[in-house]
Order: sequence, then structure tokens, then C-alpha cells
Amino acid sequence: MSLIILKIGGSVITKKDSLSRPRKDEIDRISKEIASFATDRDVSDKLVLVHGAGSFGHPQALRYNLDEKFDVKGVYEIHSSVKELNSMVLDSLNNAGVSALPVHPLSSFILENGNIAGFSPETVNVMLKRGAVPVFHGDVVMDIIKGASVLSGDRIAPYLATLLGASRIGAGSNVDGVLDESGTVIKKITPTGFVDMKKHISGSSSTDVTGGMLGKVSEFIELSRVGISSRIFNASKKGMVSKFLYGEDVGTLIADK
Ligand SMILES: Nc1ncnc2c1ncn2[C@@H]1O[C@H](COP(=O)(O)OP(=O)(O)O)[C@@H](O)[C@H]1O
Ligand SMILES: [Mg+2]
Repeated sequence: MSLIILKIGGSVITKKDSLSRPRKDEIDRISKEIASFATDRDVSDKLVLVHGAGSFGHPQALRYNLDEKFDVKGVYEIHSSVKELNSMVLDSLNNAGVSALPVHPLSSFILENGNIAGFSPETVNVMLKRGAVPVFHGDVVMDIIKGASVLSGDRIAPYLATLLGASRIGAGSNVDGVLDESGTVIKKITPTGFVDMKKHISGSSSTDVTGGMLGKVSEFIELSRVGISSRIFNASKKGMVSKFLYGEDVGTLIADK
């Protein structure tokens, strides 16, 4: 069995600088790319999807700032918003022919001071065994210390990769990969190379409470240390999701060596 984990950025499926604005055409296009791979793949090949929140949840998360003060209403509003986007993604995937099922992090993860402290994989394992595609999303999650905190798709994806033993993981964003100071795509980043590169990578150009590109690369560098390599590529460009799923050399590779 091989398992692929694909994270699609909120910048791809939503208009990030406005309030709760989905890019329905992009969601449908990506769903179709996933559907043709999903129907084509060997039955033993499994797929897990994670999507970002983009303009859903992020503005609410900024407003309530749960790291400063716990607020049940804030938890509810952030979750309701990202769940709305998740429903659109699930409808689109199922309409395209992907047997997708939602998994809401609010009811499946627990955090401790912002770090993942627990997740029960039983539900996901049954879904995978039955040929379904679990779809996670960035969410607000209960936290033993803080009450609640935001858990980004960029952290869920690598966590699941380690837990479930993924063979490949990719993050589709709105840029061609990790760019150097001249704007050229860096073909490969290793933990040693990252030390020098770090200063050229920053957060997001738009509303993003979860670390932007630097957050993504930092998570993937940690993952490379346990032997799982990843790719950051441009999911806003037609055909790129498909290329990643079929194992082509797209965007930036983050690997141990
Ligand atoms: N060195 C870099 N290479 C690529 N993108 C970068 C870099 N530094 C900062 N960024 C920003 O990170 C953004 C991607 O992160 P983010 O907005 O969080 O996307 P996503 O929605 O995929 O999570 C890019 O659009 C870009 O503005
Ligand atoms: Mg992001």
C-alpha cells in the first residue's frame, strides 16, 4: 500500500484577502484532477486530502485571538466558517466522482499549548480501508492549556504523514514552489541547506495566521528528518495537482539528502 497526502492551500481555493469568498471554479478544477487520479489508481493506493482555510476562518481567528483569551463563541464562529468551505470542497469532490468524507479536526484532535497532543486514527483507517478519501481542513481545536487554538492544514498534513506512514506528501500553494531571493524556484531544500535559505522565506502575503511559506517549509524539513520527502508546488496552475499525484517532478522538493 502507498499513501499520498495532499494539502491544498487556502490561497488556491479561496480569495484570501476578502471575507469568506471561495474560488468555486478552482475547487471544481482541482476536484476533477483528483478524481481522474483517484479512479485511475491501484485500489491499494490511498489518498488523504487536507485543505487550508484561506478567507474562511482566518479573519475570525484574528478577531478573537484565542491565544490571548479563550472564547467559546470564537471557537464556534471559526469552526462554522471553515466547515462551510469544507462542505463546498466535499460537494465538489463527490460531484467529480471522488468518494470523499470530511474529518473535522475540532472533533478529532487535541492540542497542548498549540502542539498536537492526540489524534485517534481509527476513523481515518476505516475510511481508507473502505476506499474513501478523508478530507481534513485547517480548524480551531481544543487545547488542554489554552482552551482552544488554531491548527493549520500545514501542520495536520505532516502529522498525518508520520502517523499513517505516507510515501509522498505535497502542498499545493499559489506560487511555483519555494522561491529564492531572485524569485527562482529552489529545486531542492535539505535540512542543512534550510539554515541559509531561511532568511529568504517569510510568511504569507495575505491574511494567514498560520505561518505562510516559512511555516510550511519548517514543518516539511522536520518531516524530511524522519525520511518522508515532500513537494511544494503551484496548485493554482492547471494540471499541477495531477502531475504531483502521478509522481512528477513539480515545484520544490524537500528531502533529507
Ligand atoms: N521564499 C518564498 N517562496 C515562496 N513563497 C513565499 C516565500 N516567502 C513568502 N512567501 C509567501 O508565501 C505564500 C504562500 O503561503 P500561504 O499564503 O500561507 O499559502 P497557502 O494558502 O498555500 O497556505 C506565497 O503566496 C508568498 O506570498
Ligand atoms: Mg497558509
